[in-house]
Amino acid sequence: MSKKVLVATEKPFSPAAVEQLLEVFKAANYDVQLLESYTDKADLLAAVVDADAMIIRSDKVTEEVLGAAKQLKIVVRAGAGYDNIDCAKAAENNVVAMNTPGQNSNAVAELVFGMMIMNARNDYNGKPGTEIRGKKIGIHAYGNVGLYVARAAHGFGMDVYAFDPYVDDEAMKKDGVTPVGSVEELYETCQYVSLHIPENPQTKKSINFELLSKMPKGGTLINTARLGVIDEEGLMKLFAERDDFVYLSDLAPTCKDEITSQYEGRYFFTPKKMGAQTAEANINAGVAAANQIVKFFENGDVTFKVN
Ligand code: 3PG
Repeated sequence: MSKKVLVATEKPFSPAAVEQLLEVFKAANYDVQLLESYTDKADLLAAVVDADAMIIRSDKVTEEVLGAAKQLKIVVRAGAGYDNIDCAKAAENNVVAMNTPGQNSNAVAELVFGMMIMNARNDYNGKPGTEIRGKKIGIHAYGNVGLYVARAAHGFGMDVYAFDPYVDDEAMKKDGVTPVGSVEELYETCQYVSLHIPENPQTKKSINFELLSKMPKGGTLINTARLGVIDEEGLMKLFAERDDFVYLSDLAPTCKDEITSQYEGRYFFTPKKMGAQTAEANINAGVAAANQIVKFFENGDVTFKVN
């Protein structure tokens, strides 16, 4: 019997990406249901009932969703972070969870510089700003996105540092990146810090007042990772204590109103998660997800399994 794939994207892929991933499933003779821009969780719960596979973005695959998905064998997060999937519950239900690492990394890295330069130029308000050339940037976690950030930073003439206990110092040095021995050293050294850590129980609220207050003058935190890694109480304390601190984030924090009402020029927040919102990233991640599903069913391939 033909497989049914549910593509559930509250934030839809670009039309070109949808077209290309549909081609993959057409060639495999799989049926596809597109559930785009849904606003009611009930729609997701209804659609997932007879799905054998699922492609999602930041859509939440909770215990409830998994409970409704009686046929589900695989869920692929078209993207890097899979904190939106209840991976343990999926494993318990014999559902394989996968991500598509690296597929949208360049898009995220480009947003880092888009936000940095816009802020360094005073949001293009006509007043003289600053340049990023010659400034120090610290990459907090040197994975796929971190590597693209490092390459672009070199292009802008920045000094590039990174902290990542899981990456060999020599690998960073080969990329022209200076490894530092501790997370504290990274924040002490760099005016700009770009966050690329995943959100998990260890990292939740780990970017706190103590760490951020180590940043040198003009300290600018760029968060294209996850909101949950920030300790917002500490963030607000730092905003209040230091009039030079800047926070640029892909998605607004819970304390958005407190920041925007008091600290003009010291923040930028995207209205929707924008890091992976390019046609290229959507095509890369969407098609990779589709191919991973076909390979899983046809060959038992579990290469990008995360649970
Ligand atoms: C990721 O983890 O890949 C990014 O956060 C992208 O998320 P999105 O697919 O919801 O844009």
